[in-house]
Formats: sequence, structure tokens, C-alpha cells
Amino acid sequence: MENFIIGDPLSLDRIRGVLTRLEDTIIFSLIERAQFAQNPRIYQKGAFAELTALGFHGSWLEWFLKETETFHAKARRYTSPDEYPFTCDLPAPVLPPLKYPKILHPNKINVNQSILSFYVRTIRAKGITGDDEFEDDGNYGSAATIDVEVLQSISKRVHYGKFVSESKFQDNPAAFIPHIQERDRCALAGLITKPEVEKKLLQRLHKKAVTYAQDFAPDGEIMRDANGNIGITAKIDVDGVVDLYESFIIPITKEVEVDYLLQRLDG
Ligand code: TRP
Repeated sequence: MENFIIGDPLSLDRIRGVLTRLEDTIIFSLIERAQFAQNPRIYQKGAFAELTALGFHGSWLEWFLKETETFHAKARRYTSPDEYPFTCDLPAPVLPPLKYPKILHPNKINVNQSILSFYVRTIRAKGITGDDEFEDDGNYGSAATIDVEVLQSISKRVHYGKFVSESKFQDNPAAFIPHIQERDRCALAGLITKPEVEKKLLQRLHKKAVTYAQDFAPDGEIMRDANGNIGITAKIDVDGVVDLYESFIIPITKEVEVDYLLQRLDG
């Protein structure tokens, strides 16, 4: 996604560009996910006797993550500062790492387990696929492939908070240092929170979700519900997308930003 080999990764303009592109990626992949049924079986541990027989005891989705990440780890994906795996104990890369500039303070922050459980809860609550005629359409591979894409883009978006924090810290270290020393999470969160920016983000997101979903609908048909609101024939739950950002992606990004700042003076 991001090219750390060329350019200044801490320019706020560049970070903003990355975040906006990730927003598009997340919305597009959620729209793709909504083309398939909820398929609750793929999120249940042990639901496939075939996987248990292989000695794998997680869910079908966890199996997809593990197999995909095992392959990508060998291609040195997780040596990149914006790539975070969901799986533990991945194999070593077959190539030496690229020479990334030292941008971030060394840290081990990885919130992917929270991202995974929140995402699965959202899907299970029909927050993305909506109320379907079919709960299970058997498209386990297609659904899990898209789930992996959604999870990777959410993960990248959330962990990008580290770059946001580093950029803001470098811009004015004196504002942050006392709060870091006092371990004052609230004060640090206050320094990086811009309510008007968040409000604009949610408005933009709603607009994008409606527009893109419309492009995906047959004949670009616009439907209105009983309240006259635009409804979407391609059945993506627009409010579900906005809600995912508002109640999860934004708060957990902030958590990463504050966690990163708290360890910024260590070592
Ligand atoms: N950009 C790095 C590279 O191309 C790391 C990376 C990102 C990567 N996504 C990947 C590696 C997917 C393998 C597969 O090497």
C-alpha cells in the first residue's frame, strides 16, 4: 500500500492521503463482502471437521488468515512498518528485509485480536451483510477471502495511528512530554483528538458508502425507504459502515495513538 522506500512518510498530507485511500479500500471491500451471505459457520471454531482433521482448531476465517499470512510472511510482508499480522508464530522471510527508514520508535503494539473480534461480532450482528434471504450460501472461500482483505485494510488504517502520533509528536514534543511522563492517557488523547475532523470524516464516509454502493447496484437504481432515505439495492448496510468507523475504527485508532505516545520516550 504505502511506499516507504520513496518520499517522506511523516508528512501529514501524505498520511492524510493514505488514510483516505484506505477508507475507500475498506468501503469497497465491505461492499464486496455484502455480495455473499453472512455464513456464520466460517466464524465458529471447530465448525469444519475437515479443518479439525488437519489439526487446525480455529475458525475457517482464522485458517484463511493463517495460511495467507504464512505465505506473505515468507515474502517479508510483516517487516514493513505498516503491516501487522493477525497470526502468531509466522515463518521467517526468505528475503532479507527492505531497508526501511527508521520512522517509528520501536514498539510492539498490535491490536489485531481486538479488530478481529469486533469485525466478527459486526458480521454476526448482520451489520454488513444485512438481513438476508440466505444466511448460508456456501461461499465460504469467497466470503473469507474478502474478510481477510477487509481485516488487512482495517488493520493498516488503525495501526497508521502510529504515524499520525509520531508526526504530531515531532511537530511539538514539548506539548506531549509532560503527559507521557505522567502517563496521562486522557491528556494525550485530548492533544490528538479533533472533533470537527472526526465529524467531517463520518459525513464523508456516509456519502462515499451511499455513492459507491449505488455504483454497484443493478442499473444504478436508487431506492428510497419509507422515510425517503436512499436505500441501496446492492444491500450494503450504509449505517453499518458508518457505525463500524464511529464505534470501533476511530476509538481503537486513538487507543493505538495513545499507546504509541506512552512508549515514545522508552529505551
Ligand atoms: N512492500 C513490501 C514488499 O513489497 C511489504 C509487503 C506489503 C508485502 N504487502 C505485501 C510483501 C504482500 C509480500 C506480500 O516487499
